[in-house]
Formats: sequence, structure tokens, C-alpha cells
Amino acid sequence: EKGGYEHFMLKEIHEQPKAIRDTLAGRIKDGLVDLSQEISLSAEELKRFDKIHFVACGTAYHAGLIGKSVVEKLARIPVEVDVASEYRYRDPIITPSTLVVVVSQSGETADTLAALREAQKAGAQVLGITNVVGSSVAREADEVLMTWAGPEIAVASTKAYTTQLIAIYLFGLYLARILETRSESELAEATEALLKLPKQAETLLEDPSAIRRFAGDIAQHEDLFFIGRGLDHAVVMEGSLKLKEISYIHSDAYAAGELKHGTLALIEEGIPVIALATQKAVYDKMVSNIIEVKARGAHVLGLGLEGDDELGKSVDEVITIPETLPLLTPVLSVIPLQLLAYYTSTARGLNVDKPRNLAKSVTVE
Ligand code: BG6
Repeated sequence: EKGGYEHFMLKEIHEQPKAIRDTLAGRIKDGLVDLSQEISLSAEELKRFDKIHFVACGTAYHAGLIGKSVVEKLARIPVEVDVASEYRYRDPIITPSTLVVVVSQSGETADTLAALREAQKAGAQVLGITNVVGSSVAREADEVLMTWAGPEIAVASTKAYTTQLIAIYLFGLYLARILETRSESELAEATEALLKLPKQAETLLEDPSAIRRFAGDIAQHEDLFFIGRGLDHAVVMEGSLKLKEISYIHSDAYAAGELKHGTLALIEEGIPVIALATQKAVYDKMVSNIIEVKARGAHVLGLGLEGDDELGKSVDEVITIPETLPLLTPVLSVIPLQLLAYYTSTARGLNVDKPRNLAKSVTVE
């Protein structure tokens, strides 16, 4: 059942190229995203939304954080992101022109479902992004966009997350097309880049040896840091969660520019820091932040884009991901972080697929 892999998590990490391909299938026509078969809202209705709320828990919440950047950049609609267990209690401003996007692998998470119902009661339209056909989210949401990751067994979510990102890109590109916020050539370019992701993810999975080595090292530590800026910050939040969930090593994911406002005090000799530097617009700033932690003795693993010959000069070890559009990098950059969590957990001899105290789907609030 594990298809020759030692754990479900490793199997599911390796299934990502296929899961991404399946989630893209049938949703691109003539080089552009077309969701008109699945989303029943008309162009007029889509144009009426003046804000979007992403609401989810855990890993799905991290997908929502990427969703904010994607939708704001592509469709120029203001987006807020909330963890579902907080959303209802903060008296959010929900009107009939609000679109609430709930993201849930299982479609059964109690906090997320409660948020969905509350949003509907307040008159919002709800779009559900879920991996389970017939789940509560799939049944109750006004609109549904399926992720086609296939069953995810390991508690730590991997392929569900990357396919949630794909669904979000598809939605963002579709919205941008309807709202005409991006030129057709920009949309075509992004769509083409999207179609290249499965193959690029395959390449990325070929040789995990460098990550495995670093995992062996961090398995000896009890504390470490992840840093990144922009989309990389959202990705390190997911990388840090993954590591905490299955290796029980404490880590913090910081917006790299915020380090000097406090956290830098915790950087001491030998502490591992995993630094993402895939975002060109903030690359130089990110390198400065890496130098700040290096100067305090951190042992830095840098993750950058293929062809980046600079990063190696300021970090101890480098891992690269294939180049894609800055907006799409999270789908690729999260994969080495998933592998890092996996190999750290196995190096510590832990129960990778069923970490202590956690459940795959939490149906209590
Ligand atoms: C948690 C799971 O309880 O629920 C996480 O342990 C998951 O892995 C989160 O990300 C949300 O689950 P779902 O099914 O709503 O995406």
C-alpha cells in the first residue's frame, strides 16, 4: 500500500508531480485557465466581489497565505487570511460582496466548517477548495474547486498543500482573466509556467542526498530557525510546521527582515538556520539577512534558484530549485522542506506518519 516507500509521507511527497498534473488537468483551454465548467458564478457576479477572505487551519492556512499574494497580485482584490478557529470570534466584516474561500484537505475540519457556515449566514458566497469529493465542505460550499491529490494518509500534509496552491493559482488566473486585471500575454505566460511545474517537481525529487545530510545535522538540535521574505516567508511557515509536527524539534519561521527587531538575540553559535532566497524582488535584502545570522555563528542552509551562483558565498550549504515565475516558486520550494522534515524525523527514529497528539482530521472545535 505504500508503493515501495517506507512511509506514506515519503510516498505522498513523491506523488506530487502527478497530483499537480491531475489538479491542472482539464482546467486549461487554449493556453488559458478556464474554470467556467466548475465555477457557476458569472463574470458579472465575480466582478462584484470587493474582498476575499481565505479561512483554513494548519497547512491549509499556509496555502491561504500564498493565496493572498496570488489573488492580490493577479486580480487586485484585497485579501485577508484567517485561521478558522479565530475567524468567527473577531467579528469579521462579511457582506454579500465578500467571497470567503475555505481551504480544507479533508473537508471535515470542524473549525473550518463553522467558519463556512458563519460566512454563509452573513450573506457571503463561499468557495471551498477541498480534496475529498462528497465531504462537508464540498457539499456545503456554494462553489467548489477540487484538488486532485488522491488520498492523503500521513498526518503531515504534503501533496494536499501543493495541490491547494495549484487550485489557488488556477482561481487567481481565472479571476484575473475575467476581471481583465492582467494582459492576456501575462496570463498565458503564467499558465505555461504552471504547466511546467510537474516536470520541475520531478527533477527536484531526484536527489535528496544534500537534504538528507542536513537533516542528519539538525536532528541533533532542539531549536532552529527558518527565514524568508515575501512568499518565501509563507513557505517557511509551512516548512517549520512540517518539521515541528513530525520531528518534535522546535522552530520558528521568521520574516527575515524582522529578525533584527528581536529574534536575532536567539541566534547563537551553531544554531541551524534554513534560509529561502527564491524571490528576486527581495533577493539582496534576503542576502543581507543571511549575513546577519552568519555573523552570529548560525549554520545556514540556503535554498535558492538554479543558476544562482551568489547564494553559495553567504551560506554553508545550498539547495536549488528549478526556476519558475516568482509567484509560483512555493510549489517547488516547499518540497525540499518537506523532505527535510521527513529525513529529520526518520533520523530521530520517530513515527513519521502518525506523530504524537495529532490527528489527520480534527472534527472538534
Ligand atoms: C490538522 C492536521 O489537524 O488539520 C493538519 O493535523 C491539517 O495536517 C489541518 O493541515 C487542516 O486539515 P484540513 O483537512 O482542513 O486541510
